Amino acid sequence: MAPDHEKAARDLLRFYADAGVDALVGEEPVDRFAEPAAAQTQAPAPAAAPLAERRPLAMTAASASRMPAPAIAAPPPPEEAVMAAREAAKKAATLDDLRAILERFEGCALRTTAKRLVFADGDPKARLMLVGEAPGREEDIEGLPFVGRSGKLLDLMLKAIGIDRMQVYIANIVPWRPPGNRDPSLHETSICLPFIQRQIELVDPQILVCLGKPSAATLLGVTDGIRKTRGRWLTYRNGANEIRAMPTFHPAYLLRSPLEKRFAWRDFLAIKKALAG
Ligand code: URA
Repeated sequence: MAPDHEKAARDLLRFYADAGVDALVGEEPVDRFAEPAAAQTQAPAPAAAPLAERRPLAMTAASASRMPAPAIAAPPPPEEAVMAAREAAKKAATLDDLRAILERFEGCALRTTAKRLVFADGDPKARLMLVGEAPGREEDIEGLPFVGRSGKLLDLMLKAIGIDRMQVYIANIVPWRPPGNRDPSLHETSICLPFIQRQIELVDPQILVCLGKPSAATLLGVTDGIRKTRGRWLTYRNGANEIRAMPTFHPAYLLRSPLEKRFAWRDFLAIKKALAG
């Protein structure tokens, strides 16, 4: 294939990946426009491969440009991946271990579409830990959580209560950007859960703040909406570990609904008071 076709194929696949396409349903590209109209209506649609047999999009770039496919193993089925994640997370004795384990972990397909692991930012000995949902585009590029628009707002919210971003510890439930910024699936969240649980255990903060409903639901088991649960002191439990925890609005939501900032302000004042106490 000529180099400009190769580039066009790569650009197209990158576009698909950014739009959220992360599975292959056929081995060969099919030019549907070239098929006679009758065949288009009569031919049965090719059956999609079962999920376990589908290959990550990263491999289709190679087949589209006729290059030998790189040896990337298909991710294991979700239950196996959750078990593998639990086993792997348990082995981390330090945060550095945990980061290294996550860098090697192949059980979550998000790692194949993300540019890099977004592990954490801030002080690993912080008394305040904040957990968001998943990295976005800027975070994926920089490899740090909350560095995009919502991160800038989070920095301002912390500053408003006299705290610098580097004095807290910031992480996400899912440490890889979902393609096209889609929500992480339940399976992806379950696979990543043992890692964030271990991360919280190793930081052992005095206060845990869940930014947005997905974080609060995953870590605190709350099922009500964030407008109902925000500002309430709850308990984060993981084995014998108990930490005071509060759900609050996600900064991305506050960017869309600035009137809610007054409630977030109340939450942050309560957090400041709790840290002083
Ligand atoms: N939103 C999140 O939940 N986490 C980030 O790191 C950035 C945006």
